[in-house]
Amino acid sequence: RRTAIFISGRGSNMDALIDAARAPDFPAEIALVASNRPDAAGLARAKARGIATAAVDHKIYAGRDAFEASLQQILDIHRIDFICLAGFMRLLTPTFTQRWVGRMINIHPALLPSYKGLHTHERALADGVKIHGCTVHYVVPEMDSGPIIAQAAVPVLDDDTPETLGARVLEQEHIIYPRALAAAASGRAHIVGNRVVGAEEAA
Ligand code: GRF
Repeated sequence: RRTAIFISGRGSNMDALIDAARAPDFPAEIALVASNRPDAAGLARAKARGIATAAVDHKIYAGRDAFEASLQQILDIHRIDFICLAGFMRLLTPTFTQRWVGRMINIHPALLPSYKGLHTHERALADGVKIHGCTVHYVVPEMDSGPIIAQAAVPVLDDDTPETLGARVLEQEHIIYPRALAAAASGRAHIVGNRVVGAEEAA
């Protein structure tokens, strides 16, 4: 699958996906990295790694539809047929999401359906939960929803701050995202109703 990664910032999950996709038998090729922020640190790194990049600055478009039309045009040019959202901080419209349903996945730094939205580590600490984690899921129009492909749990420790907890979660993100991409892009995983089956790797 010719895969695009959408980012808005740091791009550490992008790096993990690019690294994994270098394996010769990996079922997805990272053919494009696109960012809505031209100054995203990840964009420069992707370029340095020899990957095609696109900066689609949402601020120069009249609205979401024009922004997404431009994104779609770039995806067409690069013949992209799968999308990974990795720290992409723009909400996508139902029109775009529907077009990519089953072919677009996202990573979220919490155990969905808990802690949708922003500041997940702060909120988990404030609630005193003992287990936190991350989720890779198919994207549907509703934010941070959609069939779950993979999750990883981490313990919340007594002396955690949002930063230490976030770092523990991020380590797991970098492990589960490439695995989830492999499962989804290979067709091994598929959606049955609200669930994803077949995502687990054979032992
Ligand atoms: C990650 O925690 C991801 O789960 C969330 O935004 C963060 C992006 O980090 N959606 P990075 O840009 O991949 O380093």
